[in-house]
Amino acid sequence: FDKKMFNHNLISWYHKNKRELPWRDTNNPYAIWVSEIMLQQTKVDTVISYYKKFMNRYPTIFHLAKAEQQEVLKEWEGLGYYSRARNLHDAAREVVATYHGEVPKNPKQLGTLKGIGPYTQGAISSIAFQQPEPAVDGNVMRVLSRVLLVKDNISEQRTRKKFEHIVRELICHSDPSAFNQGLMELGALICTPTSPACLLCPVQNECRAFAEGCEKKLPVKLKK
Ligand code: ADE
Repeated sequence: FDKKMFNHNLISWYHKNKRELPWRDTNNPYAIWVSEIMLQQTKVDTVISYYKKFMNRYPTIFHLAKAEQQEVLKEWEGLGYYSRARNLHDAAREVVATYHGEVPKNPKQLGTLKGIGPYTQGAISSIAFQQPEPAVDGNVMRVLSRVLLVKDNISEQRTRKKFEHIVRELICHSDPSAFNQGLMELGALICTPTSPACLLCPVQNECRAFAEGCEKKLPVKLKK
């Protein structure tokens, strides 16, 4: 497996083919945070309008921290999973109270905030702060299980840990944001669940599942 070639092909493809999304023209950690929370259980197409409206209403973390919870929940109406909004609001108040409104750069401090689990912690660290941290979600596990022929059950907690370990070894230190978002974008646009477009894939040459013709059998996902 040629790690250098994989990184180069993934990142070049990402810069050329990424969708222009409203949270992709900023490194503002608060904006990245809002987008990643919304994207957790909601599709990109749905998130776009909510994200724009939310950022207009609460352009900075101070605006969000000052708002009433009821008003924030109202802004979230239609997105569902309302604990995301309550946690984001609580955490914004915590950041204002504890860090003068500066989203902490330290991944460990980030991880102590309400609603920020390992995925969001890695997404903010890499996208906003260019730190080489893994941001492993379902898309990333699908892509990497195919590329590296990993047959572990992705429903298991320890499999996500295994992929985080793999990403730590693999991640491009000169552009962690493009590396992580490239994996996400590849999962969204090319390496899709049931009909991956392998003939268009920038890392076809580095993909073990493609070589063996078993891409549609991966990832292994067994109900727990
Ligand atoms: N899904 C979650 N975060 C994303 C991002 N930054 N880009 C594309 N898809 C995503």
